Amino acid sequence: MNQKTIDNLVEKYLEEKGLPQSPALTFEDVTIVDLYSDVPSRSSIKDTRGRLAQHVYLNTPVVSANMDTVTESRMAISMARLGGFGFIHQFFPIEKRVREIELVKRADSGVIERPLTAGPDTTLKVALERMASYKISSLLVVDEKTRKLLGILAHRDYRLEADHSKTVGSLMKKIGLITAPPRTNPEKARQILFKNKIEKLPLVDSSGRLKGLITSQDIEKVIQFPKASRDKKGRLLVGGSVGIADSVLEEIEELLKAEADIILVDTARGNSARLVEVLSRIRRRFGKKLLLVAGNIDTPEGVLKLIEAGVDGVKVGIGGGSACKTRRGPGVGIPQISAIAESYALSSKYGIPIISDGGIKGSSDFAKAIVAGADSVMVGGILAGTEETPGKPFYEDGEKWKIYRGSASIEFQLSRLDRDEREAFIRTPEGVPKRVKYKGEVASVIEELMGHLYSSMSYVGAWTLKEFQKKGKFRWQTLSGLEEGKPHDVL
Ligand code: XMP
Repeated sequence: MNQKTIDNLVEKYLEEKGLPQSPALTFEDVTIVDLYSDVPSRSSIKDTRGRLAQHVYLNTPVVSANMDTVTESRMAISMARLGGFGFIHQFFPIEKRVREIELVKRADSGVIERPLTAGPDTTLKVALERMASYKISSLLVVDEKTRKLLGILAHRDYRLEADHSKTVGSLMKKIGLITAPPRTNPEKARQILFKNKIEKLPLVDSSGRLKGLITSQDIEKVIQFPKASRDKKGRLLVGGSVGIADSVLEEIEELLKAEADIILVDTARGNSARLVEVLSRIRRRFGKKLLLVAGNIDTPEGVLKLIEAGVDGVKVGIGGGSACKTRRGPGVGIPQISAIAESYALSSKYGIPIISDGGIKGSSDFAKAIVAGADSVMVGGILAGTEETPGKPFYEDGEKWKIYRGSASIEFQLSRLDRDEREAFIRTPEGVPKRVKYKGEVASVIEELMGHLYSSMSYVGAWTLKEFQKKGKFRWQTLSGLEEGKPHDVL
């Protein structure tokens, strides 16, 4: 596609949306126009599915940022349960990233295909360490040669045991084990678990070999979270992230072994020869089946480069993040509404979704990002301070806080230097750290975003997110228009 065609596409789409080509606009500069609506109430809207990558839809089109103060397994689990998605950040060594992915894939899965096991001679000490590292409280005991099920070591079997040198074989429950055949469906499993008042149902073949595990907790979660983002086997979806280091192919290999559903290749300067080269190598090595998202870019030209390199989704946004300094340091980056709209003008021609990344301060920005063309929206700052973010809360000035920091902040770089001696130098920081008030569980943040999204959709007469993205239009607003929209005193 030549530059003239790109310019024409952008010009046409911006005109449709009511946006200027110059200057570039951001969230506060625009307001969504209400349109004639046949949606009787927000509760009649049922479809808010947005796309994250080719063929991957989220009931809740919100993605937690791959930042070290935002997304580890705990956040990814909560996000996926709520119908969103999380990318485990790339700042852990690869073994730790793999473990985090495994933790998500093991959480409320329909069937755990490879349950955690131990041989009967394993000491309780070793068993406890293994359970702690997977954050679980029971183990299946098997004959390590034949994989035949011998017993279950449940919490009640060891919690009062003071002698950790005892073997799990001597502590486990081995008589009266209730098991089921490998292909037992969830409803049948629910009945067996309920009837026998048990928590775990090991699946064994006709020779008694362990083939899987269904737990009452998993079945409960499937009922509790009907919108959850799940794979074909009923497990929660999760993404792995990588940078553009030379080790990227080996890292992806490991993340895929852990069954990450999508790989994100993330770099601050996405419109670069290096990223294009890395993406081409990834495609050559892993073929078309791998779901690949890359970024960040903020121009249609950048989108085109990444699409030509074979991505399934493009992450858009430079310098708009709440902990970013890129607009103020190097002075680079396009205000986010224009960046999304111009990128979408091009990506939509190829059917590749846009993930808007950065700058979301609340639900109105979220809705505006979608009207501008985003298929899903990545957020960091508004999730910061929630229970599920990594790091411990602390008390200061009479309040409870957690830390949120830019991935290019000096504090973050120094913490990496402590962990990873190979980092030879510190870059001029392009991010900042901040303390953020403790917010409780992430579900409340998502509920507020989605609650207002339903309302925005009803104002525009959109029954589906796709329709909202298509029909929604903007008017620019002045500063006085912005002020008028804020709660103000009546004189
Ligand atoms: P919000 O606004 O949701 O933005 O907090 C999250 C996004 O910010 C980006 N990010 C950075 N950008 N310097 C930057 O210029 C940084 O140090 C930095 N850390 C994060 C990133 O795209 C994230 O998803």
